[in-house]
Amino acid sequence: MEQTLSIIKPDAVKKNVVGKIIDRFESNGLRVATMKKVQLSQCDAKEFYAVHKERPFFADLVDFMVSGPVVIIVLEGLNAIAKNRELMGATDPKEAAAGTIRADFADSIDANAVHGSDSLENAKREIAFFFANREIY
Ligand code: CMP
Repeated sequence: MEQTLSIIKPDAVKKNVVGKIIDRFESNGLRVATMKKVQLSQCDAKEFYAVHKERPFFADLVDFMVSGPVVIIVLEGLNAIAKNRELMGATDPKEAAAGTIRADFADSIDANAVHGSDSLENAKREIAFFFANREIY
């Protein structure tokens, strides 16, 4: 069993497709171990995405992530990190395979509907950033 962090981003929350996205996870062997709806501050978003702070898209990414509430989920299942990335599709929705979350719900590389941890190390860090152990079960 593995855990990964998923964020349903402001664009998808505004489109009211939170349930449809969670259904993709649950229908494909992932379980919601915990979740919450949060309005991130600039400070939260900058710290969460600190790994990208030198990238040219960093400021736009942070502004987008604070543009409305997000839904933050810990998903659990066999190979959860890879499974979630497969279900999300490519970062740029123009390149995302048909039937993936980003192909179906994302508008652009910034407004790309979901975030998912990309490694075991990052999954642990990202989960701990948002949740205490006693909130995950
Ligand atoms: P996410 O998985 O949340 O991780 C970082 C985010 O930066 C990514 O999804 C995109 O929404 C955003 N982003 C914007 N431009 C780029 C880019 N050129 N390469 C990667 N990510 C980008």
